[in-house]
Amino acid sequence: ETRKSIENSLERGLFPQWVLTDPDIYNIEMEQIFLRTWQLLGHESEIREPGQYVTRWIVNDPVLLVRNGGGEIKAFLNSCTHRGVHLCTADAGKKKSFTCPYHGWSYNLDGDLIGIVAGDKIYGEEMDKKDWGLRPIPRVEVYKGLIFANLDPQAMPLEEFLGEFRWYLDIMLGRSDGGMEVRGVPQRWVVHANWKMVSENFVDPYHVQTSHRSTVELGMSPEDPLYASYGHGVACNHGHGICVITSSPKSKARPVKYQGLPQEMWPMFERNLTKEQLEVFEKVKVLVGTCFPNMSFNCPLHGNEGHLYNYFNVRVWRPLGPDKVEVISWFLIDQSAPEQYKEDAYKGYIGSFGPSGTLEQDDTEIWARVVQASKGFMVRDKSLNYNNFSNYLMGYDHVAPDETFPGPGVAYSTNYVDFMTRGYHDYWFEMLTKE
Ligand code: FES
Ligand code: FE
Repeated sequence: ETRKSIENSLERGLFPQWVLTDPDIYNIEMEQIFLRTWQLLGHESEIREPGQYVTRWIVNDPVLLVRNGGGEIKAFLNSCTHRGVHLCTADAGKKKSFTCPYHGWSYNLDGDLIGIVAGDKIYGEEMDKKDWGLRPIPRVEVYKGLIFANLDPQAMPLEEFLGEFRWYLDIMLGRSDGGMEVRGVPQRWVVHANWKMVSENFVDPYHVQTSHRSTVELGMSPEDPLYASYGHGVACNHGHGICVITSSPKSKARPVKYQGLPQEMWPMFERNLTKEQLEVFEKVKVLVGTCFPNMSFNCPLHGNEGHLYNYFNVRVWRPLGPDKVEVISWFLIDQSAPEQYKEDAYKGYIGSFGPSGTLEQDDTEIWARVVQASKGFMVRDKSLNYNNFSNYLMGYDHVAPDETFPGPGVAYSTNYVDFMTRGYHDYWFEMLTKE
């Protein structure tokens, strides 16, 4: 009955508010979605050399991601096979082997068990080290530098899962020779929020004019209620969505080509991207979107007045409960960009996003206020059929797809539409109810 009622509301462009914070739904999501979907672990540039490693999480599974002696990327459950201790707890480092702090078992870069303290004296013949290596994460695949993992051995290949969304990711990941690289360490922090709500926030530019009002007042953003609507909102397959935001016609600043990246890089973009991708990239100001279920990115322009810098900020929303999320946020930049540009862009990011960023703080407070107000009796009363839903009706009955848009997916000629958020919810429901 609950399933029918959720399905029914999604069809009408509504989302039941209680679903956001419901512990039972959360538990179903863990098994139906997080056990089966591709999860971003990191970027190749974080572990360039043999022995370099980073530690990450797939929700509650700790992951040790390492470059082995042969230069291959390996991912293991970061848990000792003796008694299960969380093996390596540093965020990142470089090692030849990993030794457990409990009884001292050690493992090499291929996850093989190579050392047992007093092993030959205390274990008999029946103990074969080969059987006690670190447990590999079932699937690991890399897309243009981004390393993803999947706990489901039967999952569809990563490229197929990214589907139409790849075309847009390529505008960032594929435009430069040498691709992108991570600069600095990924920032991590915990926010009060629901993982779905923050994911859909990245395909909801309607909030920009209000939530980020201070940037308008500072003159950083135009005083135009439609300011983040210009361009195209695109709903892609598998619940992914992207906003291709172009300049407001009311903006005083000159539109910048190729997101204001240095002119010496332009011939490279023109070589690496298709004519259709260039058509989009040439005019875009901000690319922002979400890859189902919980990876979002923002590729904007930030910095000081007159000096704007482009970067690629990717984040994973790691669920820590129905109303808590750990954010892990990477700053990426074209490897071939001039060094000074990279540094300036990094400062632009730090001031705008991440825990110290003004825009991040605006968003964080709003996300907390959504979950705060979504736990009471009123929103949980499933018999009330009115005002028990959140509204996803923007553009629903009067905005038609724009067939002339050069990219894949279903594109609409404004970003103020709820088709991307609804596509996300529809895929969420499909996965949630899959046999
Ligand atoms: Fe790791 Fe005992 S738990 S060596
Ligand atoms: Fe925001």
